[in-house]
Amino acid sequence: MTTLVWAGGLLRAEDEPIVSAQDHGWTVGDGVFETLEVVRGRAFALSRHLKRLAYSAARMGMAEIDAEAVREGVGEILAAGPDSTRLRITVSTGRGPQATARGTGPHTIVVTATDGPRPAECRAVRVPWRRNERSPLAGVKSTSYAENVVMMEFARSRGADEALMANTHGHLCEGTGSNILIERGDEIVTPPLASGCLPGITRGLALEWGADAGLPIRAAAPGELEMSVLDEVLRGEAFAAVSSSTRRIQPLASLDGTALVAGPLLSGLRDVFESAAALDVDPGPRRGK
Ligand SMILES: Cc1ncc(COP(=O)(O)O)c(C=O)c1O
Repeated sequence: MTTLVWAGGLLRAEDEPIVSAQDHGWTVGDGVFETLEVVRGRAFALSRHLKRLAYSAARMGMAEIDAEAVREGVGEILAAGPDSTRLRITVSTGRGPQATARGTGPHTIVVTATDGPRPAECRAVRVPWRRNERSPLAGVKSTSYAENVVMMEFARSRGADEALMANTHGHLCEGTGSNILIERGDEIVTPPLASGCLPGITRGLALEWGADAGLPIRAAAPGELEMSVLDEVLRGEAFAAVSSSTRRIQPLASLDGTALVAGPLLSGLRDVFESAAALDVDPGPRRGK
């Protein structure tokens, strides 16, 4: 797998040191990021990802991110690696004290691209830890992702590649790098943002494109989806899929080691998503969303 790196206005060698030892992103995870899919040399849903990057920064109280610099980095890295499949934008608050208090920057902006394949399937496990929907970082794509790393290691040690968690109320929340969709009865429901999940770009597009196509899909009411809905999935009474920029819509292949089949509505949603994504590589944010 090749990794391309852009930082400080320049393309860099993959192993070139680019971040100061005093960078607050490095010392305390004080930064934000985005992961995007690359489709035929273009960053998929770039406008939405840049909007969420700005949202995450605002939620963290960071200074406004230089979107032009980010776009420049994205452009240069895609020109250098048109066969890339995945792109990451990372922005930290830059140099700061070796303490929790933040410095005055300037931001460190890094864009990287890789050409690895999309995960072929999703084998998920439930984890005993919970997402804190009251955390200041709930719904923020912050570089403070070590909780997710621990949960993913738990999953990997059990032969899985995604970890699903509840929030502090025991309501279904999300995965470490994906949102979750449940097909129950004759509709698809996904945990609401109030659950503490990330406002996933893929989740948002699935809700919009699914509804446009006439599929019965909606965000659940707070508390409507208990974590125990996954027991229904294991019993074959409901179905589940994950959504993310790297997976798109992926029905669960297994949960806690039990093989699952794809639900008909979720399979339909996956097809709707694939068709719509093929027509529009940068579906702009809709008014009010
Ligand atoms: C915690 C978490 N939830 C959900 C998602 C899915 O978001 P998106 O569809 O924007 O990739 C991600 C993406 O990495 C994530 O990290």
